[in-house]
Amino acid sequence: MNNSKGKNIAVIILAAGKGTRMNNNLPKVMHKICGRPLIDHVLNTSEKLGAGNIISVISDNTPELEQHIKNYSNTTVIYQKERLGTGHAVKLALLDILKSESIVILYGDTPLIKPATIEKMLDNLKGKNTALCVLGFKAINPTGYGRLIISTNGNLEKITEHNDATTKELEVTLCNSGVMVFKGKYIEKIINLIDNKNYKKEFYLTDAVSIAKNLNLNTKVIITDENEVAGINSQKERAHVEKIKQDELRETHLNNGVIMIAPETVYFSEGTKISSGTLIEPNVIFKGNVHIKGECEIRAFSYLEDCEIEAGAVIGPYARIRPGTKLQQNSRVGNFVEVKNSNIGKGSKINHLSYIGDTEMGENVNIGAGTITCNYDGKNKFKTIIEEGAFVGSNSSLVAPVTIGKNATIGAGTTLFKDAPEKKVTINKKEIKSIDKKG
Ligand code: UD1
Ligand code: MG
Repeated sequence: MNNSKGKNIAVIILAAGKGTRMNNNLPKVMHKICGRPLIDHVLNTSEKLGAGNIISVISDNTPELEQHIKNYSNTTVIYQKERLGTGHAVKLALLDILKSESIVILYGDTPLIKPATIEKMLDNLKGKNTALCVLGFKAINPTGYGRLIISTNGNLEKITEHNDATTKELEVTLCNSGVMVFKGKYIEKIINLIDNKNYKKEFYLTDAVSIAKNLNLNTKVIITDENEVAGINSQKERAHVEKIKQDELRETHLNNGVIMIAPETVYFSEGTKISSGTLIEPNVIFKGNVHIKGECEIRAFSYLEDCEIEAGAVIGPYARIRPGTKLQQNSRVGNFVEVKNSNIGKGSKINHLSYIGDTEMGENVNIGAGTITCNYDGKNKFKTIIEEGAFVGSNSSLVAPVTIGKNATIGAGTTLFKDAPEKKVTINKKEIKSIDKKG
């Protein structure tokens, strides 16, 4: 969506909250939803809008957060030393904004806002003399939220914070989500007029509405679903937002033709890509960027992370596919098998109880139950190469670096310290004795 309209958009992300109620040392906006920090969700939304300037207002003493934000382009970080209110935070950020046509205010702890909703708000700014648009929602429990006060002719007149509201205003269930868009040419004047004469003695951004009205400017509101504007202040709320987002991802994958027996037990990441026609059995977890490129079968209780899977692969039940793994067409990874940073060739099978790490495996290889690649000597990692058609007998230990040649067979229980030549059977010669039993 990097259109010419977007280039004139600046985004301010308010994220100076201490996150005390999260009850741990991690900055609140670094907590994750679907495997991605909250702030990343908001930064991604800002990028999708094509914002030319993204300013994050954060509290001091969070250098790791500043570093993290700087991974994104067009970003500036501003420290708000004293937390004097949302209006104050926006004022600090304004000092840094180029003359933008429109300015979008987002919260760092409200990650589910959709770019399309903000686009709609920006469209609402188009009218002459329109200063701002607020994103509202009908709250099931409005306690704590600012109330949107709408006049009988349907205009947004003001926002009253919960603690400053009259008894009648407290009955209003239409609430402020916190997301606002401003027309650039009016914002500075409006923000400069905000004072802190209220219950909390804070500079409320929400006062922008009544100030705009006093300046004879128009104010708009659009309403969205409560789930889209769910914010996070506690671990319980984080888990609630995770559930909303997981349900969205489940629906997306179902709509794309992925088959799930019990979708509510499958957990996705934002980077999960799954080809239509893939069957996913219950209790499967996808982390990071998993890409399933053709129809596959992922059986129950499997855990996949940062890997690529080609059509026809069958995984699990109870398989673990770790980062850097590629499973080629029609390969199989069965129960209690862990594969890490390995390429498993077409039609190859690792069906039971194995660890395969740092391995290049050709086509149609068969790995017997209990085979382990010993890829680590305590200091360094080494590669195992298993060429096409090889057959590795059960309970073998392949001590890397080691190569098993084309169509070679490794006898069961072999500890392979040196390369096994192609087409030959390689075994550990062990003497087997039978002796008389006592008694
Ligand atoms: C705010 C709104 C309220 C709305 C609610 C939605 C105001 C005055 N009130 O209230 O109308 O219904 O959000 O959740 O805006 N922040 C800063 N610096 C500050 C203060 C806040 O960066 O000095 C950031 C926070 O980190 C947070 C956001 O702004 O991301 C909102 O602040 P918060 O204190 O949660 O505002 P509420 O009282 O919930
Ligand atoms: Mg809040």
